[in-house]
Amino acid sequence: MIKKCLFPAAGYGTRFLPATKATPKEMLPVLTKPLIQYGVEEAVEAGLTTMAIVTGRGKRAIEDHFDISYELEHQIKGTSKEPLLSEIRSLIDQCTFSYTRQVEMKGLGHAILTGETLIGNEPFAVILADDLCTSQNDSVLAQMIEVYEKYQCSIVAIEEVPMKDTNKYGVIAGNLVDGTKDTYRVTDMVEKPDPKDAPTNMAIIGRYILTPDIFDILRNTKPGKGGEIQITDALLEQAKQGKVIAFKFKGQRFDCGSVDGFVEATNYFYKKEG
Ligand code: G1P
Repeated sequence: MIKKCLFPAAGYGTRFLPATKATPKEMLPVLTKPLIQYGVEEAVEAGLTTMAIVTGRGKRAIEDHFDISYELEHQIKGTSKEPLLSEIRSLIDQCTFSYTRQVEMKGLGHAILTGETLIGNEPFAVILADDLCTSQNDSVLAQMIEVYEKYQCSIVAIEEVPMKDTNKYGVIAGNLVDGTKDTYRVTDMVEKPDPKDAPTNMAIIGRYILTPDIFDILRNTKPGKGGEIQITDALLEQAKQGKVIAFKFKGQRFDCGSVDGFVEATNYFYKKEG
């Protein structure tokens, strides 16, 4: 059973400066909801209720968001504004949130390793909140948990991207598992390869299910692309033992780490909710 979801949320969000100078990028709103709330909702939809958030300096707003604001709630109680807080209130009631700080920015792999103290020795999910995912039926994470239950190994979500964009993603190569159209046993993984070196155009997006042996592997993973400890490199060690599945999810993903993707997501949700 997977119960915990890790949110690496220590990054600076430099692509959104100056907005992210004093506001965590995870708190940027698509319509009225901050990005990280969409992520927590996706986790809850998949049956996960323990949220483990790896934060850093200047990220206090995330903790305040997932906490009760007595003064505000008292002010709007009984008014027409009260329902505006009902979604977040219900998340706070259903989930527990715990936090740890990544004191140095040494990459996504290092952020995940920093979360070990909140996760312990059990399989867990990872959501990168700036990849905003939506789907018609089951949430992307719920789909991945189904895959995990079948294969009992690490799972990465993938989608095909234009070949010219491989240098923005972890890219996998693998073989379709017999009888499936969307499930690959991973044979190779490369972090942000140049298009000419990319094994395929199948890109990892910000959803993972990881088995806890990943922590020992991460402890021994040398800095890779960009001088950072990469989760892609650690996963390659598991893949060499046939223990990583890549899953082409059903649904849509917006890269809210880029201004274009953020605007697309905003338009999408505005149309959907309007
Ligand atoms: C990270 C990972 C990369 C993955 C991407 C998904 O990169 O390192 O492998 O494809 O997330 O969003 P980042 O976007 O943090 O540079």
